[in-house]
Amino acid sequence: MDNGTLRDTFANLYGDPAEEPALFFAPGRVNLIGEHTDYNQGYVLPCALSFGTYLLVRRNRSGNCHFSSENERKSFTIPLHALTEKKGRHWVNYPLGVMQQLVLKGMELEEGFDFYYSGDIPGGAGLSSSASVEMVTAVALNELCSLDIDRVELIKLCQKAENDFVGVNCGIMDQFIVGKARENHALFLNCGTLQYRHVPFVIRGYQLLIANTNKKRSLDGSIYNQRVAECRSALEYFRASRMLGSLTELSVETFEKENSRIKDPVILKRARHVVTENRRVLESVKALMNNEYEDVGRLMVESHRSLKNDYEVTGKELDALVEAALDVEGTLGARMTGAGLGGCTVNLVKSDQVERFMEQAGSAYHSLTGLKADFYVPGIAGAAGRIG
Ligand code: GLA
Repeated sequence: MDNGTLRDTFANLYGDPAEEPALFFAPGRVNLIGEHTDYNQGYVLPCALSFGTYLLVRRNRSGNCHFSSENERKSFTIPLHALTEKKGRHWVNYPLGVMQQLVLKGMELEEGFDFYYSGDIPGGAGLSSSASVEMVTAVALNELCSLDIDRVELIKLCQKAENDFVGVNCGIMDQFIVGKARENHALFLNCGTLQYRHVPFVIRGYQLLIANTNKKRSLDGSIYNQRVAECRSALEYFRASRMLGSLTELSVETFEKENSRIKDPVILKRARHVVTENRRVLESVKALMNNEYEDVGRLMVESHRSLKNDYEVTGKELDALVEAALDVEGTLGARMTGAGLGGCTVNLVKSDQVERFMEQAGSAYHSLTGLKADFYVPGIAGAAGRIG
């Protein structure tokens, strides 16, 4: 990202009065393991990406908020009194949802703001461009309006914006990693208690590589909300016999003993994914700390298979890209990352095999699906904040 070009575009859009806009950045994320566990109060292990969303913002005296983005064709001018109205299915709902939550927390809007976003996270790729836009907006307004809201509160408020305003019942993983990441570390988070630990993520001789199926997915889709609902129904089957707040309170062993209570075979599969995935996160953290990288890779593959067979959120493109990856010599592990049904895979690849991986997996994927995959070798970034 070129800071100068961004500021020039801002000046062209909004004019160049005395007050310089402030520059903020929020990363995207990739989840290493722990998929669809967050809204079940379970464990996750994401890390933040060196690509993300930049935001230039400053106050104006117009009584309107202006929203433009380098990545979106449509810009918006919204009077302060109309900020709480949802705008169809447009991107601006992410910042609007956040502003609505901030107003509920006491933000007073007497004057407007000029916002200019620019992101280098591929859209619809499952790398959390939405949480990145939400968090960059929240962090910026928190600072510019001296709201003094604590970081975890900001994270919760962004999740609420997505739940209530955008209408996706997402868990807290994406906002949490964007808001609390540490460079070169993964974040081991208990989504029930919000206790977390940064785990060093440097695997000597191996590289984190993201592969994009280029099959777009949209998170306002009903499948995600349907899975959330299916997990709730799974819980209902246990309620008669024990007090259970969430599926992840069950160990794999208890689940195996008691799962005949779940009478619906589809719900049984969904619950099995959640319970086993939660265990896989714990095992992955242990393996990472003990430098047992083969185990990390194996757990990633098991995670993908569980998401494919039990949770049914992979689809032919993600499956093809994972299988293609596993055929390349020197690949430790590969799995889908994020909500699924398109988007990206995350891979651990021997550093000296990265070129070969892209060539071989790319061409196998193309023959299997007719689609061209894109590959990214990201850095592991720190949390959202002001950068200029
Ligand atoms: C999306 C949601 C997250 C999480 C993942 C699946 O990214 O935003 O809260 O549920 O899917 O693990």
